[in-house]
Amino acid sequence: MGILDRLRRTLGIAGEKCSLVVRPVPDEANPLWRYFARNKGRVIHKWHHYFDIYHNHFHRFRGRPVTLLEIGVFQGGSLQMWKQYFGPEARICGVDINPDCKQFEEDQIQIFIGDQTDREFISELKNTLGHIDIVIDDGGHTMIQQLTTFRELFPFVGETGIYLVEDLHTSYWEEFGGGYKANGSFVEYAKGFIDSMNAWHSRDPRLVPDSMTRTATGIHFYDSILVIEKYPNGSKPIQSMTGSDSELAAIRKAAERATSSEGNPPGNPRVLPRGSQGGRGEARGRCAWNRLSEVTRNAGEHGRSPLAGWRLKSDDIVPWP
Ligand SMILES: C[S@@+](CC[C@H](N)C(=O)[O-])C[C@H]1O[C@@H](n2cnc3c(N)ncnc32)[C@H](O)[C@@H]1O
Repeated sequence: MGILDRLRRTLGIAGEKCSLVVRPVPDEANPLWRYFARNKGRVIHKWHHYFDIYHNHFHRFRGRPVTLLEIGVFQGGSLQMWKQYFGPEARICGVDINPDCKQFEEDQIQIFIGDQTDREFISELKNTLGHIDIVIDDGGHTMIQQLTTFRELFPFVGETGIYLVEDLHTSYWEEFGGGYKANGSFVEYAKGFIDSMNAWHSRDPRLVPDSMTRTATGIHFYDSILVIEKYPNGSKPIQSMTGSDSELAAIRKAAERATSSEGNPPGNPRVLPRGSQGGRGEARGRCAWNRLSEVTRNAGEHGRSPLAGWRLKSDDIVPWP
């Protein structure tokens, strides 16, 4: 047997017509992949590329008293994998609509029987668990199931926790309530999270900070997986300029030169009405003043201004075109 045939057999695609280009197998150094690939115990059903995604996002919880909730137990194999991965302090919980799944309970693994779209059931579950660090939605994968579960459980995930939805490809399948750009598909809904997360920077009254803005620090879209990492963001992100005093002073001088060349006294920049078209000097001045004002504003927020006395209110600065 040739090397290509052996590769096809290893990949489980023997007999299929295929090109040489294949997807990379997850790294052997990934403990979740090692567990899955050697699993002789209860059945686990996962797409191969999920393992690196899990490990990238979950590894910081290993060895800690983490509470993980997986919707969709099936044969219970994935719950055992999480238990082994997170260690003896982890509390692993599963939800399934199928009452037979109760048999897969064991030390560290609790199973709750119910429908992921049943708000009363989810509410009772939250009361029982008290706290969740990681949610994995691997349940029925219909739009209504993913959306309802997200709305019920995302706010409940701990403030540095993770919400992961898998098998998002059903967002493109009609029988699951999806379809390309279909109204109400989970993927269409989730695209809005990108705007919400960036709402601190919005100049449009239709986009204002909401709970996603204040609780999400990262939204990761992968093939068929969405991972949202939570972190409390009570206010707009902070930026600073660091570097040598002489460079910062040069920015100040450039701002001063540009504005004074337009007939403004140094230190008293002309404030342009929003939308007005300044000349080249004004444009250069606006750029430098924008940067200068950010430096002073942020330095002020840090309790110290490297350019004390040079302050502008952010509303005075016209937007850089
Ligand atoms: C894809 S399997 C889960 C696979 C498992 N997590 C694994 O990795 O091996 C989906 C499971 O979701 C369950 N399920 C389907 N609809 C559900 C619902 N509305 N509420 C809760 N569980 C549901 C099914 O009974 C099935 O066991």
